[in-house]
Amino acid sequence: MAVRPIIFTGHATLKKVAEAVTEFNTPELEVLAADLVETMHANDGAGLAAPQVDVSLRVMVFEIADNPRYPDIETVPLTTLVNPGFEPIANRLVEGWEGCLSIPKMRGLVRRYDHIRYWAYDVNGERFEREVSGWHARVFQHEYDHLDGILYPERMHNLKEWMYCE
Ligand code: NI
Repeated sequence: MAVRPIIFTGHATLKKVAEAVTEFNTPELEVLAADLVETMHANDGAGLAAPQVDVSLRVMVFEIADNPRYPDIETVPLTTLVNPGFEPIANRLVEGWEGCLSIPKMRGLVRRYDHIRYWAYDVNGERFEREVSGWHARVFQHEYDHLDGILYPERMHNLKEWMYCE
């Protein structure tokens, strides 16, 4: 396992639609998932998607637990998702401040679905499904966007609510 270098906004890989994983239960997929977790932890990230380490595959991880970058929000269990999908359960959108390890030191106000159902496979090809809301739903949608080549500023409605923060 290793902490991999993160790529930053402007890099071509972050603009591409990532490819679906076709083979499960492989050492490559296991190492990629483990490296994503390690890289996320090393950077105090709430989530990380494979394109952010220059791997254009539909794999993402997230976890919120005692995170110094997000001190006041509910916890989200460590989750690895391969080939995820989702649907909103209600159309209600909620605003929240997001950051991204590929856009350092910035935060922006983004509208996301508050309540979603998502599904994905684990690295062994086991399918799972969850119904979530709040921050869990937000971090999912943020990471999912990375798989489609979308960064959170593209989701913002008012760029005046994009700000520098230490
Ligand atoms: Ni991000």
